This record gives sequence, structure tokens and C-alpha cells, in this order.
Amino acid sequence: MSMKVIPLTGSIGASVQGIDLKRPIDPTTFEELHRAFLKHQVLVYRGQDLFEPKDLLEFSKLWGKPVAASSLGNYLPGFPEITHITKVPKETASTEAWHYDSPYTPIPPKISILSALTVPNGGDTMWCNQYQSYDRLSPAMRKMLEGLRVKFVALRLGRMMGADLNSLPTAVHPIVRTHPETGKKVLYVGHPETAQQIEGMTKEESRPLLDFLYAHSTSPDNFYRHMWQVGDVVMWDNRCTMHYAVHDYGEQERVLLRSTMEGEVPA
Ligand SMILES: [Fe+2]
Repeated sequence: MSMKVIPLTGSIGASVQGIDLKRPIDPTTFEELHRAFLKHQVLVYRGQDLFEPKDLLEFSKLWGKPVAASSLGNYLPGFPEITHITKVPKETASTEAWHYDSPYTPIPPKISILSALTVPNGGDTMWCNQYQSYDRLSPAMRKMLEGLRVKFVALRLGRMMGADLNSLPTAVHPIVRTHPETGKKVLYVGHPETAQQIEGMTKEESRPLLDFLYAHSTSPDNFYRHMWQVGDVVMWDNRCTMHYAVHDYGEQERVLLRSTMEGEVPA
């Protein structure tokens, strides 16, 4: 069967059909996948039955350098680059909000890949298109944001982990970053507790602006909502999308494997 890439919305996401990720991927096919990934930002591969940790790791290495990336779950024995994501109580689910992964680090990861092993009723994941969020701003707003930088703090994660809130990881990044592969501009914001302040502005000045940009990014015509099935593999570009893990599954089991690839300094 030949590979097909089918858009899932008018804004973001595509389904890749006719590919078995457990089999070797030749350079031509990879090039096609890579093009589709840069264009659609989220790729969904359904029906990847028995996608084991070793398969995930091998597929991940095509895309970059997998890093030990997790505060969200446990490493699998023998696979330090793979996180075993299991359910967390809703009260502490810091991922149930739109966010970029690790913007409070100097070099946030570039790509993550999830493989679904156990799926509840619910537990969807959403991704929004941050190229489009930038493009939809007025020319005057785009001009105003040029050169501004935001201080990100790992407050939500720190709280979830019970960390000392006075010594949380922080980083400062451009509020408009340029994707290193596509050259397109991206709106780089985040949850109000994470994207705390614009450098050089007072809290009173920066808060309404950051809140506006966050709400502006997540309108329903700017995201894809994925309803998980066992055997799904989904990858996303953490340089140009935010995501949101919906926690509506109570005590049901939800198990995913995750790998994360090293990124670049946002510029
Ligand atoms: Fe996340």
C-alpha cells in the first residue's frame, strides 16, 4: 500500500496511512514524512499494533536525538529515553492546560512522539497551530511583539512535583520565535503561571498582553483534538504547537509511551 497523508483539520494535523512504523523507513519515505510533519505539525499514525519501546526508540532516532525527558512518568527499565506515562490525579495534572513542553529550560525539546498502549474513554489530546496564531495577529501587534522576550517558570510542574517553589527552573525566550527548519514565525507563549512576564515590562503591563496571546492561540478553529485508540502513534512539533491533555477519564487506566527529541535554543 502506498503512503497517504490526509489533513485532519483545516488548521493543523494530518493522518499518515499506509505505513508500518515497525518496518525500516527508506530515505525517500522519510523525506516525505518530514515534509508532511513540517507542514502539518502533528502526524497521526493509527493501527501501529504492538509498537514496542524498541520500535518507538528506533523511529524516534530518525527525527533527532532522544533525551531523557521526563517528569511526567517513569523511565522504562532499559530505555532511559522512553517515558512511561500513566494516569495522574486530575488535581495535579499540570498538562491539562495549553502548554509548550519545557519552555522554562534553555533548550526546549523539538519533537515528542506518543504511542498509546491503554486508552480510557476520553483522555484526548489537543494541539494548536502557533504559526497561525502569529499570522492572525494584526500588523501593529506583530510589530509590537518583535524583539520582546518572556520569562518562563516551571511553576505548574514544580507544584505537581512538590518542588521548592523558590528555586524552580526558569528561562527567557523570544515571544516570537523563528522555526529553525521552516523559517516561519511562531507565537511562543504559554500558561499564565508559566509565561510569567515580558522582559522590561512591569507585571501589570505584561499580564494582560500574555493573557490575550494565550487565549488568542487556542480558539476552536486553531486546533486538532485527537481521540486516542490503542495502537496510535502521534508526533508533534514542540517548536510551533502547544498541546493540552484532557483529563476527563476519572480513575480509568491510561498508558502511553513517550520519547522526546533534543531541540534548539529558541531564536
Ligand atoms: Fe506536555
